This record gives sequence, structure tokens and C-alpha cells, in this order.
Amino acid sequence: MKYVELSDTPHELSNFDKSGHTCVVIDILRATTTIQAALAAGALSVWACGELETALKLKRDQPDLVLAGERGGIRPKGFDLGNSPLEFIPKLVSGQTVVLTTTNGTRALAACFGAKRVLTGCYLNAGAILKLLVIEGGPCFLACAGHEGTASAEDRLFAGFLASELDSLGFQIGEKARIAAEEWMANLTLPLEDRLFGCPHGQALCQLGFASDVRFAAQWDTSVRVPQFTLAAGQNIWVGI
Ligand code: MLT
Repeated sequence: MKYVELSDTPHELSNFDKSGHTCVVIDILRATTTIQAALAAGALSVWACGELETALKLKRDQPDLVLAGERGGIRPKGFDLGNSPLEFIPKLVSGQTVVLTTTNGTRALAACFGAKRVLTGCYLNAGAILKLLVIEGGPCFLACAGHEGTASAEDRLFAGFLASELDSLGFQIGEKARIAAEEWMANLTLPLEDRLFGCPHGQALCQLGFASDVRFAAQWDTSVRVPQFTLAAGQNIWVGI
């Protein structure tokens, strides 16, 4: 069934029956943009985990892993990289496995447990995500990461873009997805970059010195790759390729 609905937070998503659904995890600033950048730079895979301790233990056990992520937007002590997509350059990640732990994005992945398929989306792979959802033609959830349990404007914007496109392509649109689509359509003349800078999280990243990350996240269709994540057996680690 061609149907799309949206959830604003991992908690909201965990209340839905996701069996038979494709979930598209959306954390524009910055986790899903960073995952896209890491794979584009040649990382073999991205292992996403919600807990800092899990990530540190993986690194202790396998020192070759590239340990990346943030808490409060900042690279935690002992990590190789932060969560800035611009840090993921071929010299540092090509041919490597990246372990990524972030405040909200990796938790949104965990909330997809039980879905038929789990993908990550951002503006960098917008067209490819859309094409894949249309080809699949099945029900899907736009799983926004949000920010510490509340909705994030930049995630809703991207979900709204996808929902409005899917609407015009014959999908049934859930109530929340329809509102997000209207929000997306309401300000189409404003450049995407300005829309992202106008979001509270965009402003917070500027204050932390990451304005270039916001600019990076506002690029359309730099990649046709759609990362797909599966849960590693018996562990709380989502492996994306
Ligand atoms: C998150 O997962 O919470 C974000 O990607 C935070 C950030 O690094 O901006």
C-alpha cells in the first residue's frame, strides 16, 4: 500500500507498528548527513550505536575502528572524529569502518526496530530516497530524529519535502505527513540554506562554530546512494552500508 506517515521523535516512532514498513531515518543536522558523507568518502560501513560506552568499548576491542560522534554537538574525549560531515574525508575514513554515536540520530535508528527496511535520508540523497520509495511502493515512515524528545524543524522540513513529492506521486499521506508537506510548501522561495540556518538547531550549530556543516547539509542530490541499516545480531549496533 502506497502510504506515508511521519514521526517527530524516536519515542513517537516506537509506538507505531512498523512491520511491513520502510523507515527513513532523518537527522539533517547532522547524523544522517554525516552518514552520507562518511560513505561517500569511502567508509566501508557505519556502525551506529546510541550509547557512548558501547562505542568506546568497540574501539577498545577493535582499535582500527574510526570512532566518531558527539555529545552536546562536540566530539567526546578520546574520539577520532566529531559529528561534522566535513571531517569525513577519504584520507581519514576510506576503507575504514566508522562507529558513530550521536544524541538523537542513532536513537532514531534504534526506534526503527521491527521495520521491514531501515534507510537514512538527507538532502544529499533526496532524489535517490524518493525514487526508492516510489519503486518499493509500500508503506513508509519518515522517522525524524528530533532533538532530545521534541520535534526538530529541519527534520520536519525534509520529511515534508518527501511527503509532498510522494503525495503528488499517488501516495496516501498520513495526517502528520500532510502538515509537514504544507510546512515545506509554505516557504518554497526561501533558499534551503536559509531555511536550515533559520531552524533552532541550525542556529545552535552556528554558535558552536559549525556554520559550514549547515551549508553542507543544504546541498541537494550530491549522491545516489541510499544507506541501508540492519541490526547486528544480539547487539545494539545498527550497521549501515
Ligand atoms: C544528533 O544526532 O543529535 C545530531 O546529529 C546532533 C549534532 O551533532 O548536531
